[in-house]
Amino acid sequence: MIYDYVIIGTGLAGLNAARLIPKNKRVLILCKMSTWNCNTFWAQGGIASAVDESDIPVHIKDTLEAGVNYNDKEAVELLSKKSQSTIKNLIDAGMKFDLNDKGELAYTKEAAHSRNRILHADGDATGRMMHIFLLEQCEHEIVTQAVVCDLLIKDDICYGVQYFVNETKQKVAYAHNTIIASGGVGSIYRYHTNSTANAGEIQGIIAEKGLALKDMEMMQFHPTVVRGTSFARKPLLSEALRGEGAYIVDENGYRFLFDYHKDGELAPRDVVSRSIFDYNKKTGLGVYLSFETFEKKAFKLRFPNIYSNLKELGYDLPFERVPISPAFHYSMGGIDVTMDGKVKGMKNLYAIGEAACTGVHGANRLASNSLLEGLVFSQIAIENSLKEDFKINQENYDKPIIEYIRNKEIDKDLKDNLRTIMWTHAGIVREHKALEESLKVIEEYLKKDVGRLLFLRLLTAKAILKAAINRKESLGAHYIQNWYFFDIKFT
Ligand code: SIN
Repeated sequence: MIYDYVIIGTGLAGLNAARLIPKNKRVLILCKMSTWNCNTFWAQGGIASAVDESDIPVHIKDTLEAGVNYNDKEAVELLSKKSQSTIKNLIDAGMKFDLNDKGELAYTKEAAHSRNRILHADGDATGRMMHIFLLEQCEHEIVTQAVVCDLLIKDDICYGVQYFVNETKQKVAYAHNTIIASGGVGSIYRYHTNSTANAGEIQGIIAEKGLALKDMEMMQFHPTVVRGTSFARKPLLSEALRGEGAYIVDENGYRFLFDYHKDGELAPRDVVSRSIFDYNKKTGLGVYLSFETFEKKAFKLRFPNIYSNLKELGYDLPFERVPISPAFHYSMGGIDVTMDGKVKGMKNLYAIGEAACTGVHGANRLASNSLLEGLVFSQIAIENSLKEDFKINQENYDKPIIEYIRNKEIDKDLKDNLRTIMWTHAGIVREHKALEESLKVIEEYLKKDVGRLLFLRLLTAKAILKAAINRKESLGAHYIQNWYFFDIKFT
């Protein structure tokens, strides 16, 4: 049987795509782990939207400024112009965002936005609430624990996907349209805010097939995650906290960020992350997020999930300050796509959400633009694919189906080293020689007899390192400092 659509991923982009595909189409949705294990689920702050028509040019300007004008302007305009109708469509379908005292949509502010334009849900659980809503709306089949290990590509047509259903068994699903919504690359970094499912394997397949990845050096580090927890995935302290009054201090209570940027805590995210990193390196002083501007009852009401998560970690907010550090957060780069969401060079293969690079985010993503991008471009991709109604001829796919080995004994240590290499050398601050040395190590790993999933991750890491090496000058999140001594610890 041939599906009309195979969707890889059950984050916001994949589920919104599924929502918009008519019920009578045959759709298979492949989810790598369990459905909640995606970056959408962890997104706290919110979703940006132009508040009204007059805000569109301002939202565009803020997005371009944060992205250091490296953005694709057409994509940014599309994003902002479609923001209100896209959000309205979701609200009309039943999604509930938080309202203010007057019963109107409540907009908050985050760094580098020149006005309040971030919608949120259940206070600080916007991603989770949107995810639950979209899951409830989903009328198509979802298969969990389905780990995609190949795309069936011949010439410029994708015939479907091959995926593991357990450690050894593999299946093939043929489809007229394949939609990649598998998220970013967080798990190839030592410390991150991402779901463990996001390890960049599909980006690796794209590189393997000779298709284009774009802006892979542009990796975003969130400035405020909780320091001192033992897992690689670090608890996020939403940017909305700073938007509403929390501020960053050193262990002596000094607000050092104004020494780096006139907007202090509300400077673009790359600037804040780099400044924290630099200040800590120079002074050896610990860095903290202070909540003392908040009153307890209001804090608990506005940020109920952060309040309870931090309580479990032993912090009494808003009275205690919390030790913070930047950690990997978001991949601006990804699979190179056209404005209609198609993978460049392909007839019926789409990429949406964090997996794709539309160029919307440029060199540094403006806070809360990613959920919006996932919604807007998933809608565009589905509208386009329904219009084109492309059909594969399964008989034309005459390539052998390879039996892959998912994991091998050797993988564990190499995977661990990979994370350390990426965090240390393709992180907040980079140095050319170290990038080149790292690339050599990854190329050596690629010659080893590793499992399929690690092989694909290594290809993605190689693409990031190569892109970082090719960009000689600093730009946005890609920051080169050749004299740095690299000994980054995260304790
Ligand atoms: C946050 O809540 O700080 C994350 C928002 C985002 O990454 O856009």
